[in-house]
Amino acid sequence: MTMANGRRSENFVWGTAVSAYQIEGATELDGRGESIWDRFSATPGKIRNGDSGRIACDSYHRYGEDVRLMRDLGLNGFRFSIAWPRILPDGRGRVNQVGLDHYDRFVDELLANGIEPFVTLYHWDLPQALEDRGGWPVRATADAFAEYVEVVAARLGDRVTNWITQCEPWVIAWLGYGIGEHAPGRTAEADALAAAHHVLLSHARAAEVLRRGSSRARVGITIDQVAFHPASDSPDDLAALAKAAAFRNGWILDPVLKGEYPELLLERFAPTEPPVEEGDLEAIATPLDFLGINYYTRAIVRADPTTGEPVTIESDEAERTGMGWEIYPDGLFELLVSLDDAYDLPPLYVTENGAAFPDARSNGTVHDPDRISYVERHVDAIRRAVEHGVPVHGYFLWSLLDNFEWTHGYSQRFGIVYVDYETLERVPKASYFWYRDLIAGSSG
Ligand code: FCB
Repeated sequence: MTMANGRRSENFVWGTAVSAYQIEGATELDGRGESIWDRFSATPGKIRNGDSGRIACDSYHRYGEDVRLMRDLGLNGFRFSIAWPRILPDGRGRVNQVGLDHYDRFVDELLANGIEPFVTLYHWDLPQALEDRGGWPVRATADAFAEYVEVVAARLGDRVTNWITQCEPWVIAWLGYGIGEHAPGRTAEADALAAAHHVLLSHARAAEVLRRGSSRARVGITIDQVAFHPASDSPDDLAALAKAAAFRNGWILDPVLKGEYPELLLERFAPTEPPVEEGDLEAIATPLDFLGINYYTRAIVRADPTTGEPVTIESDEAERTGMGWEIYPDGLFELLVSLDDAYDLPPLYVTENGAAFPDARSNGTVHDPDRISYVERHVDAIRRAVEHGVPVHGYFLWSLLDNFEWTHGYSQRFGIVYVDYETLERVPKASYFWYRDLIAGSSG
């Protein structure tokens, strides 16, 4: 990445990102407990084709090959998550050393190859035992998380410095507990409000544990953001846009960066309130060492003519990915600049960005020009934001490998490496070689 003054940034992190449930497989091996995604995937009708993460990319066994792919790519950072149920199969209490051993070896393998681990502590695979006791809507789940983080940090904290406590709290709370699209599939707005609060509280607790454990720990959180545009400049559309942004972006960002929930969010849920106890918001707003932003797409919002409530509209001309998400690279630039204007930001990393397309393997290669174009334009948006003065320190492409895309199962391929799900063979796509050259040309 070339900085505003023309110098190249040697510290810029070029990475890729994955998560445990989406790539590891081996869900029933070596003492791993059940997670809410195992249970949800086994529930008929929840996941396309009845897919599950049971085998996935089998990275639990094939991680050596994955790290070789990363090394040949020239990555200097890799973001992955730890499966809580591998470490504490019952959520609390009994520690599974075999699970810890796995991540211990994996971290060593990364470091031996010059790749800095960025460890996500929670990427959605809550131990089912904790869900059975109420899940994230229950405050005790944040205590359980702190205990789990303590165990992981005690084992890996001598080598891991970059910790991402939580990934996309909005998705965890709203899709998991509000509308039930994701595990655990519950549908109550009050539960979503409570889940979001306890996920945020768990971030605060984890930060405290990590910093107590090591003065070198860098604590961050990954928050998904959508770039919002109003359908028109009418006061009604602008008011609807503000509501949509408070719900989708501010719900998580404001407590973390400002120690308060947005007024418009509280109005939306009134009379239900988040279960805030004394000191919670101060703890949640603990200064971050970095903030992770996930960006994929934008939304155009107008006001419903009768209710005034926000409605998302689709633009017909938009370019779209396989997920149907609009490709809108300028949104990343706009978002980064507007965050910088609105908040006092710590160093930023784009911890996820990428696209699914219906890739096919032909003659041993995979041509994916659409993905190359997507990534190229988003990286350029970051470059412009950096030139504008926004402190972006790294980019993690989602994803290294094709993987289990939650409710879409294996139908959506996000990888720069193709995975043949029959043989588990890895085939680098054209985008892999393109990203390798981009990284090589950007450093030093
Ligand atoms: C994000 C998730 C990640 C992946 C991408 C496509 O919301 O964090 O696991 O599914 O979307």
